[in-house]
Amino acid sequence: MILCTSVSCKEQVTIAEAQKLTISEGFENPLGFYDETPSFSWQLPVSEGVSSQSAYQIVVASSPDLLPDHADLWDSKKQQTAQSTWVEYGGAALQSRQNVYWQVKYWNQDHESSKWSEINQFELGLLNNSDWNAKWIGLDTKKEKVIGSQDNILHRPQYLRKGFELSNDVASARLYITAKGVFDVAINGEDVSDDVMPPGYTPYKVRIETLTYDVTDLIESGQNTIGIEVAAGWHSGRLGWMKAYWSDTETPKVLAQLELIMKDGSKAMILSDETWKGTTNGPIRVSEIYDGETYDANLEMPNWTTNNFDDRSWEAVNAFPVTEDIRLEPKRHTTVKTKIELGTQDVVEKEGTAIFDLQQNMVGVPLLKVPMKKGQTLKIRFAEKLSPDGTFYTENYRSAQSTNYYIASEDGVIEWMPKFTFHGFQYVELSGYDTSKTPSKDWVTGLVQYSDFEENGTFTSSHEKLNQLQSNIVWGLRGNFFDIPTDCPQRDERMGWTADAQVFAPASMFNADVYKFWASWMQSVGESQYDNGGVPWVVPDVLFNNKVSAGWGDACTIIPWKIYLRTGDKKILEENFETMTGWVKYHESVTKNYISKMGFFADWLQPLPENGDNKGDTSKSLIGTAFFAHSANLTAKTAKALGKAEAFEKYNALYKTVANAFENKFFENGKVKDVAETQTSYLLALAFGLLSEEHEANAKRHLLEKIAEADNHLRTGFLGTPLLSEVLDATGEIELMYKILFNETYPSWFYSINQGATTIWERWNSYSKDEGFNPMKMNSLNHYAYGAIGEWMYERIAGIAPLEPGYKAIRIAPVPKEPLTSAAASLNTPYGKVSSSWEIKDGIFSLNVVVPPNTTAKVVVPGSVETFEENDAIEKISAETEKAEFLVQPGNYIFKSKL
Ligand code: BGC
Repeated sequence: MILCTSVSCKEQVTIAEAQKLTISEGFENPLGFYDETPSFSWQLPVSEGVSSQSAYQIVVASSPDLLPDHADLWDSKKQQTAQSTWVEYGGAALQSRQNVYWQVKYWNQDHESSKWSEINQFELGLLNNSDWNAKWIGLDTKKEKVIGSQDNILHRPQYLRKGFELSNDVASARLYITAKGVFDVAINGEDVSDDVMPPGYTPYKVRIETLTYDVTDLIESGQNTIGIEVAAGWHSGRLGWMKAYWSDTETPKVLAQLELIMKDGSKAMILSDETWKGTTNGPIRVSEIYDGETYDANLEMPNWTTNNFDDRSWEAVNAFPVTEDIRLEPKRHTTVKTKIELGTQDVVEKEGTAIFDLQQNMVGVPLLKVPMKKGQTLKIRFAEKLSPDGTFYTENYRSAQSTNYYIASEDGVIEWMPKFTFHGFQYVELSGYDTSKTPSKDWVTGLVQYSDFEENGTFTSSHEKLNQLQSNIVWGLRGNFFDIPTDCPQRDERMGWTADAQVFAPASMFNADVYKFWASWMQSVGESQYDNGGVPWVVPDVLFNNKVSAGWGDACTIIPWKIYLRTGDKKILEENFETMTGWVKYHESVTKNYISKMGFFADWLQPLPENGDNKGDTSKSLIGTAFFAHSANLTAKTAKALGKAEAFEKYNALYKTVANAFENKFFENGKVKDVAETQTSYLLALAFGLLSEEHEANAKRHLLEKIAEADNHLRTGFLGTPLLSEVLDATGEIELMYKILFNETYPSWFYSINQGATTIWERWNSYSKDEGFNPMKMNSLNHYAYGAIGEWMYERIAGIAPLEPGYKAIRIAPVPKEPLTSAAASLNTPYGKVSSSWEIKDGIFSLNVVVPPNTTAKVVVPGSVETFEENDAIEKISAETEKAEFLVQPGNYIFKSKL
């Protein structure tokens, strides 16, 4: 073996090149990128001779022609390290509009060098407000109350346009654009993108995201036209049940800057400014997130985004310069797109009304192809479920009208979908169509819309209902990752409720590539933090009520830590550390002798509370104190990971002090005292490590008693439920956890499945076949919180968990129990795909594992191991009658044991 220590050393190129090159939170060749100091990640190929990395070299240049030998931006030089993820860029900070090219090579465990990877590329967006010469433009839309069913309207959608002439041919064109509202843009009659409701939802008073589009192919030499539609969206529409608005006074606006480089090298800019014209007399009459959209085809304006249109009757727009108070930043995660199309499965017609059933509760819009007669108004209603008598159940939309109208301008089949609204539904009801035609399935297609991420993990098992639960979790994710993590997608909320987010984040990270999504929302959390350190109930904080709740605000410590464990990227910790310390300080400010007085939602929606309250029976003070300790602990761990020794000492000591106070106040010999004894009080104490060691066993015993009292059922709400599996697992009560998970009766996960759920419900009993809908109007049928159980399904039933942050070391330790006979999961980790798949046949347990390159796995095989492949890559660490442990190098292996 020849050890190459310098680049000049003669290297044999024998091994396959690095793959899946990404920057920062997982972007591949992005345009309009946000990060001026990105990090670089890559994966080693699954290939013979590649097991780990001993060194890497990254080269970064302003032109592909300079690579690899003349990198003018940065050359990492050969670095002797196994690090292949989140390598920080070491060159000068990148600039707005900059084009960057990079490639990487690595050396394997035998110090053999790979070829250089393919060249990857990214281009920065506009990083500073001062980059914007364009002005915010819009018409002076008045607040209007539109009579009819949609009576909460503020602003009519606007149509804005501008013609411009170019004397030269275009070499490249970028459109930088955003809105106070939501927009859709076309150039010369062509859609610029298929983004849904950009720019998305951020704390608008602090930061608005901007998009960058490559429009080179849309620009023509000579005359051109750009046209933009803008509607209220989250910015100027009502949000929240209290009808809150980000801006009560400011009308929706757009900001657009088209930058052109001509073939002769000259530059030009087309800016949104007072020379643009606009109208509110276009076909979209009304569009609001909660209430829906009204489209009048009689008002269509053919060709309005082309040169071939006369806008003399349009008004001049108002224009306002960009100021410094609201930061304009390139969007730091992916926009919402139409990701899946669902066909109608069943149609029922009754007296001119047709109900279309998609057989899956979903979020997005319908694509309608419906025969109509001129002058008819098609009414389009939505429901998540039908009442037992076949009528539409819409009570749970509360004040959200969630209704669309389409007014036909001629006879024939219309093809239409709403543009600036979305709905949560399984059923679509149409009335007002041409009743001489029989409704057919192709009239309605469900377009499923969510932030554009890829699915990243899989889980299946031998049990149909467990597989349905997995499907419901995934549909909860698809339904509630609409630019921000929402509590629910259908009623007059759809807000970034912080507890819902923190309990579901780990399960979401397994199922989908959502690091960018969470990192972006966590930025909004930091920006929404109150001056006193409090973290609001919802982010972006549209409730404007200055209120906090334990278990909700703690999203700011829990989510970054959980993301760090799954990605290994310290940037998420760095970015959020200040928010964490501020929040811990806030916790402390509402305590007396470290006992919390923080109130609010408590163990929200706990089933069967004795006090009959949504907030459950567990003491609020106990919950507040437990989360105070937990957040202090996570802040201490974060400080340690970031090498902040002093801060670690401080927060670790605080954690211990609070834990001690917690135990003295609420426990005696491991038994809850003076407040209601609930499953959740024991779960918090045990999960967060708040009891002295000698009392833990007792606490566990009391928890088991509480569970037995409930006939082995859970009695937990939003805060307790995610801890149930964690605590029972850690205390060895895996059989009991299986029992609780596989329960069919209320309250349990399978109970909702038995009642027909295709998503996760807000309440354990949102609906039952015997009793119908829960009488509470707060009754979402698409609320991902209880999908938190996914974390345990993947990590323990299938058995894949990170042993070191980012899965650099992986634990594969499935726990097979009745009634399962098989389970399998796979996950794309930062290092590549890991999988674990097990089966029991004739008493023999066989486990197939795939360990990705540049990692190692600790595989724990239950039972007495009969065979494992004799292989250098597998080292037996221990063997007992009940289990054996192996240290496993990258590759694909099978283990067999007798259970
Ligand atoms: C939301 C939540 C949220 C809760 C706060 C509800 O209206 O839908 O899921 O966490 O309020 O208690």
